[in-house]
Amino acid sequence: DTNRNRPRDVVVRVAAELGLYGRCVERLVDVVVGGQFGSEGKGHIVSHIAPGYDVLVRVGGPNAGHKVYLEPEPFTFHHLPSGTLHNDHAKLILGPGAVLGLSKLYEEIAKCEIPADRLSIDPQAMIIEPHDAAFEAGTLVKSIGSTGQGVGSATARKVLRTAASPNVRLARDIAELRHYVRPTHRLLEDAFAGGSRVLLEGTQGTGLSLHHGFYPHVTSRDTTVSGCLAEAGIAALRVRRVLMVCRTYPIRVQSPKGATSGPMSKDLPWAEIARRSRLPLEKLRSSERTSTTNRPRRVGEFDWDLLRKAASLNAPTDIALTFTDYISSANRNAR
Ligand code: IMP
Ligand code: MG
Repeated sequence: DTNRNRPRDVVVRVAAELGLYGRCVERLVDVVVGGQFGSEGKGHIVSHIAPGYDVLVRVGGPNAGHKVYLEPEPFTFHHLPSGTLHNDHAKLILGPGAVLGLSKLYEEIAKCEIPADRLSIDPQAMIIEPHDAAFEAGTLVKSIGSTGQGVGSATARKVLRTAASPNVRLARDIAELRHYVRPTHRLLEDAFAGGSRVLLEGTQGTGLSLHHGFYPHVTSRDTTVSGCLAEAGIAALRVRRVLMVCRTYPIRVQSPKGATSGPMSKDLPWAEIARRSRLPLEKLRSSERTSTTNRPRRVGEFDWDLLRKAASLNAPTDIALTFTDYISSANRNAR
């Protein structure tokens, strides 16, 4: 009845009657989240398992740097899914909850030579403006050790909607992105209808969650599995497995001068990790720098209380334990 309904409503009713939407929800999505304060090695895990999926989805913004192993040298992703270079048949999706730094995004698209039909960016993904990074430099960087990429400021402006200053620009407003912008919800629906396997890659770690972490020493998003699903636009019942990545020794970024990057169970000097593992101290110091801002990292004892909380918030089906060589250098080739 097109007197009561718009034509598209009629299409929905007819398609439902014909059973074209399918009757059961197949669990096709695996989610990777961090169990600590980020830098758990999610990029390595995601790139390793990426060949088993048809669609790779990443959430979050350019404050997260996900490093992947590549010859001759590793590559750090700030926007694109970490499996991009390890599975070239997979479609790439940045959902409506993504926060985009345009220069970094363009650089990654160019370096990875991504064709327009491979990458889809939702029209409602948020754009970071120069204002956002400038704003964080004077405040968040000095107080909590923020990466200062403008992600928190841009997210706050998105929440302010028409009251935001400067005005909000979304992916749909950026002419240069037009070949990549299309509603990602439709793509995911089609992927699910076709039985495609989807890998959803979270950023940061549970201890940095805006709601569940140690506020204000947190990032600007909910880093748990539910937060990642919301940003991507994926229903909870779609999830098959949740893989939580944990390090043997959690890290945080070095504390800013006269402030702290937040609580950790028990800080350790890198020399102690070197002593226990027999790894060279200089090697630890040079590799343990943050991927986005190249600042030194703090390190601490494994935090069992945080593991318990992260396990309860994410209900992982699997845990990937990384940095086992920090227990003993004899584990260098452990898998
Ligand atoms: P922001 O999200 O850049 O504002 O940073 C807030 C806090 O989260 C700081 O302590 C950052 O060092 C930390 N953080 C943000 N993103 C990451 C990440 O991807 N890995 C590790 N730490 C992060
Ligand atoms: Mg990182």
